[in-house]
Amino acid sequence: MNLKKRRWHCLSGQEPTEMDLKIMAMEKKGKIVPTRNLIKTPEQIEGIRRSGIVNTGCLDAVAEAIHVGMNTQEIDDICMEYCKKHNAIPACLNYEGYPKSVCTSINEVVCHGIPKAEDVLQEGDIINVDMTVIVDGYYADASRMFIIGKTTPEKEQLVRVAKECLEIGAEAAKPYSFVGDIGHAVQKHAEKFGYGVVRDLCGHGVGLDFHEEPDVVHFGHRGTGMLLVPGMVFTIEPMINMGTWKVFLDADDPYGWEVITGDEKPSAQWEHTFVMTEHGVEILTH
Ligand code: MF3
Ligand code: CO
Ligand code: CO
Repeated sequence: MNLKKRRWHCLSGQEPTEMDLKIMAMEKKGKIVPTRNLIKTPEQIEGIRRSGIVNTGCLDAVAEAIHVGMNTQEIDDICMEYCKKHNAIPACLNYEGYPKSVCTSINEVVCHGIPKAEDVLQEGDIINVDMTVIVDGYYADASRMFIIGKTTPEKEQLVRVAKECLEIGAEAAKPYSFVGDIGHAVQKHAEKFGYGVVRDLCGHGVGLDFHEEPDVVHFGHRGTGMLLVPGMVFTIEPMINMGTWKVFLDADDPYGWEVITGDEKPSAQWEHTFVMTEHGVEILTH
């Protein structure tokens, strides 16, 4: 019998906790509730926290080195080197055929940009660097935007608002709220500026694996999607487009990974890994 797939229940002889009772009540109302494996133990959370510290150090190393004229393969080299030094595995490398250790997405590239020696950073570019490390089997996933030199006020605003979307999304993630509460808050903020929120890609549960349940969508309605309870670990990673929310796979990418905006206008994204606590989310990738 697959316990994971069964409805929420307490094993016989086990007293339901307060959390069990709340979850069961929500399930009765027809809400989507997490399976037990999505609620991490304190020990697992500590492991993911340690992984988060390494991931942050890796992005800090990129932040220190990034400059006009650098190519994105050099960013990959920095990440690879950092991982080696800290006994970490870059989760992206060889993940479903992905060929590099990190994603470097410049301007109209929404996400999953593949580092290459030919991609040289130009004054005014905006770039997302998305890194995931595995430390002692625990995954932490985060990304930041970098502005190369001086950019336009329009791109600057896009980068700032995308960061605000992450912060506002995190603020909306309260214990016993829903994934849709996050999405609703993010969408509302982005659309105030006429921006498009990417629908085809989303945040995700993370920690014991790269991509776990639930799908953390960045648009939609309050009270929809999975219930969020203390102990769950997940990313929020809104991809915010200056123009249309529609995206497509870059036909020039032989690996089939790079996602670009439908109108080739720029896109920005920030990502953190969070753990839900009794009071709200805590960032594990600070
Ligand atoms: N780090 C990305 C995320 O936020 C996933 C990258 S998968 C890769 O989920 F294969 F493209 F690296
Ligand atoms: Co990521
Ligand atoms: Co992610």
